[in-house]
Amino acid sequence: GIDISKLRDVSGAITIDPGYKNTGATKSAITFLDGEKGVLHYRGYPIEQLAEQSTFLEVAYLLIYGDLPSAQVLADFRKKISRHTLIHEDMKKFFDGFPSKSHPMGQLSCLVGALSAFYPESLNPNMTEEEEELTIIKLLAKMPTIVSWIYKKSLGHPVIYPRNELNFVHNFLNMTFGQITEDVVIDKVIVDAMHKLLILHADHEQNCSTSTVRIVGSSNANLYASISAGISALWGPLHGGANQAVIEMLENIRNDGGDSAKWLAKAKDKNDPFRLMGFGHRVYKNFDPRAKIIKKACDDVLDKLGINDPVLDIAKQLEEAALKDQYFVDRKLYPNVDFYSGIIYRALGFPTDMFTVLFALGRLPGWIAQWKEMRANKEPIGRPRQIYTGSTKRDYVPLDQR
Ligand code: ACO
Repeated sequence: GIDISKLRDVSGAITIDPGYKNTGATKSAITFLDGEKGVLHYRGYPIEQLAEQSTFLEVAYLLIYGDLPSAQVLADFRKKISRHTLIHEDMKKFFDGFPSKSHPMGQLSCLVGALSAFYPESLNPNMTEEEEELTIIKLLAKMPTIVSWIYKKSLGHPVIYPRNELNFVHNFLNMTFGQITEDVVIDKVIVDAMHKLLILHADHEQNCSTSTVRIVGSSNANLYASISAGISALWGPLHGGANQAVIEMLENIRNDGGDSAKWLAKAKDKNDPFRLMGFGHRVYKNFDPRAKIIKKACDDVLDKLGINDPVLDIAKQLEEAALKDQYFVDRKLYPNVDFYSGIIYRALGFPTDMFTVLFALGRLPGWIAQWKEMRANKEPIGRPRQIYTGSTKRDYVPLDQR
């Protein structure tokens, strides 16, 4: 075996792999994924068991620290988080400065990056383990507050302060949907569905946003800057932004008469830029195990809340037709995590442009775990190579002679 990192020194050659389709950038002990079999484990635990039996905060602990916590450790973790749920009052000025219709993802990446200005101790790459722990706890604790306040400000509502006696997810929902003057009882169905969705999004090994977090962090950039970059990477419709794009697509299909065959044909037409959003995945060449769980949760939530959403019927028709279609079969294109998640978010009462922000809230523990692992492994700065295809050397021509 040749050490690939030494290939250039011994032969002058570099490997070229656009999109890193076959390039491993790191060794990681966090998430195991078998895309051919449709298997996903966090720290060895199957995603199906975690989604069914665990809570989001417990899964966050598992991802970041490596093992399931004991009851006492989990209680301590909860307590530490509840001490940091407030955000600096001066941060409110940021919310006021954004135009009311600005996209929540743009606001989120800005606000998370801005935490570094309020907690400058996070800038020290040689911080102690305790300082690193506190930097992480602050981010986990403040993220739900930031997300809820983005939503409240978009409505022109007063913001709701965190209530630390509530659990992590319940507190988030209370800040998002509660009212300042009276306690709103958030339906258990909604709290359970939210735990499940956040758990299913919590990590997915070296995807686009996670690789971004690791590569930004590899320059010794602070946690808040690294996660802010990850949020920007997640925003794109080929990645986390797909959950917003799916609902917009399903609504377009409904408004166009609900003819799924017509839209399937568009997705197959190579002269048409339209793609079936929520379908296909770089690594899953079989059912995305998260999509299976979400599809069932979607039925349960709509059923329990008594909602009849016509876009769910369109989604099911599309899925059924695509799974029988030779184009999709040949390319192993199956529904991914985003295909049904938006329908649940909508049923829970979130507007479409908040969907990708909810994905970011779920992915946060994974990004943190990967950033922490990258630091612990003392990984070198990420710096891919290229093959130069530009002009050969030429001499500068003064402006009046061009
Ligand atoms: N609709 C129609 N055709 C598709 C789709 C789709 N959704 N996805 C892939 N294909 C086709 C491609 O056109 C290509 O066909 P070809 O071989 O005839 O040229 C073939 O399937 C392989 O697709 P690639 O784009 O090469 O696959 P890649 O791994 O680069 O892309 C991606 C994966 C970006 C997820 C892609 O499937 C896609 O664009 N899907 C829609 C967007 C989406 O749902 N993204 C969310 C992904 S999950 C997540 O990030 C949380």
